[in-house]
Amino acid sequence: MDLFYDIEPLRDYVFNLKDKNQTIAYVPTMGALHKGHESLISYAKTLADKVIVSIFVNPTQFSPNEDFQEYPRSFQNDKSICMDLDVSALFLPEDSTIYPPNALLTQVTVPELSTRYCGKSRPHFFTGVTNVVIRLFNIILPDFAIFGEKDYQQYFIIKTCIQNLFLPITICSLPTIREPNGLALSSRNHYLSDTQKQEASSIYKSLCLAKQSVSNGTQDRTSLDRLIQTHLSPSIDIDYIAYVDSNSLLPSHTIKPGNRILFAGNLNQTRLIDNIAL
Ligand code: PAF
Repeated sequence: MDLFYDIEPLRDYVFNLKDKNQTIAYVPTMGALHKGHESLISYAKTLADKVIVSIFVNPTQFSPNEDFQEYPRSFQNDKSICMDLDVSALFLPEDSTIYPPNALLTQVTVPELSTRYCGKSRPHFFTGVTNVVIRLFNIILPDFAIFGEKDYQQYFIIKTCIQNLFLPITICSLPTIREPNGLALSSRNHYLSDTQKQEASSIYKSLCLAKQSVSNGTQDRTSLDRLIQTHLSPSIDIDYIAYVDSNSLLPSHTIKPGNRILFAGNLNQTRLIDNIAL
């Protein structure tokens, strides 16, 4: 596995692959790799000749009161996971490589989507994400990029961005990987005790009950909200429950199979998100 820290050598590597007509599938990550990332990497291998993974804890998607400093960093373990999965190249840039000091601010945003749902309580999150992802795409020039559906709003915003900017990259998404109790895998689960993980698993269980209720004909969001609240652990503070149209991510007028429920909440200081297709 090749390791790259700077743009130029990685660019040489990428152009060399392009000269040989080899395709690239790319998995952007912030490290602390878990089975969810592993599923993205394994899928990437089925898509292209080479798989590139990046590990970059992107400062611009954290607000000053968030967990940028505490965010789990486990480089040695991440590296051995990538080697075991036969990743072709790992990109590990410094902050100053992605955001050169004194560079004039250049931003790409999808304001209509990035200010909703998670964007309401994390106002610069999605702009931070789109800007780092566009920079990484422009460095790596992948044919495919793979994202997890756990961060559904993130996946949707990136896909929208790529379409609107006519970038020739196929954006793929893969289903959320879960613990046996239903808890969605996330690097932030490192912050949770075993008891809290059990409490957090009530999110998926309550979303499944809402899905069941919609397939039984419920269309009323107040009763769905109540159903979710009733089955959620009392230790979770709900940030939002949104019923969205899967094709636009805008709030759905009528709740029906084919829509998606997005959820965010906090357990102590830990933000937990999940979603389910109805
Ligand atoms: O989902 C993540 O890990 C990050 O938001 C991403 C897409 C790597 C951008 O920093």
